[in-house]
Amino acid sequence: KPQAVIFDLDGVITDTAHLHFVAWRNVAAEVGIMIDEKFNAELKGISRMASLERILRHGGKDAAFDLSAREALAGRKNALYVDSLSQLTPQSVLPGMTSLLHTLKAQGIKTGLASVSLNAPAILTALGLQSHFDFCADASRLKRSKPDPEIFLAACEGLKVDPARCIGIEDAQAGIEAINASGMLSVGIGVGLKHADLLLDSTEELTWPRLEAFWNQQQR
Ligand code: G6P
Ligand code: MG
Repeated sequence: KPQAVIFDLDGVITDTAHLHFVAWRNVAAEVGIMIDEKFNAELKGISRMASLERILRHGGKDAAFDLSAREALAGRKNALYVDSLSQLTPQSVLPGMTSLLHTLKAQGIKTGLASVSLNAPAILTALGLQSHFDFCADASRLKRSKPDPEIFLAACEGLKVDPARCIGIEDAQAGIEAINASGMLSVGIGVGLKHADLLLDSTEELTWPRLEAFWNQQQR
């Protein structure tokens, strides 16, 4: 058995990717930049400031905003995003995830969270999942964003587990790269992800029997 399973939050536990998109679309439009859902996929797993930098570059305006102007834009995006989080309830947990967390606990497998979102604690509370994780990595203490493995290694350290004995679960390409670089086995959720050790279409397929079979097959 693995010692721990470490989860990304946005797009794995709940679908906040669309809420991030709506907030960014509003802020981008204020400065005359249009973004669509396809571009938004590139922002998955990317920190707030790094996302803003990508948006400004996409609109050819990265030279037009100094640090304080960027901080103001990022602050406006976050205010819109935090407002939209009031829509979240325990019903917003993606299919199968609450039951997977319970099964892992029953199996004696630790659970961790590795989200770069500074809003992760508020989101877990809104979903009613705050007591379901043995350790949540603190995004405010990170020096490097995914694809750097730092956040997954911090989660392993907090859980006191060996990365080589763990599974990481991600919906973002940057997240898969971070898991692979940490030495954990990677599970990707969603189409089009590259380099995942196991790729599933949706969280409905993410069951303990599926993970156990994958783990056993990798140990041979
Ligand atoms: C997750 C999301 C990103 C988001 C980042 C920071 O990784 O996938 O889209 O930019 O968290 O979130 P925050 O809530 O701190 O702005
Ligand atoms: Mg994600």
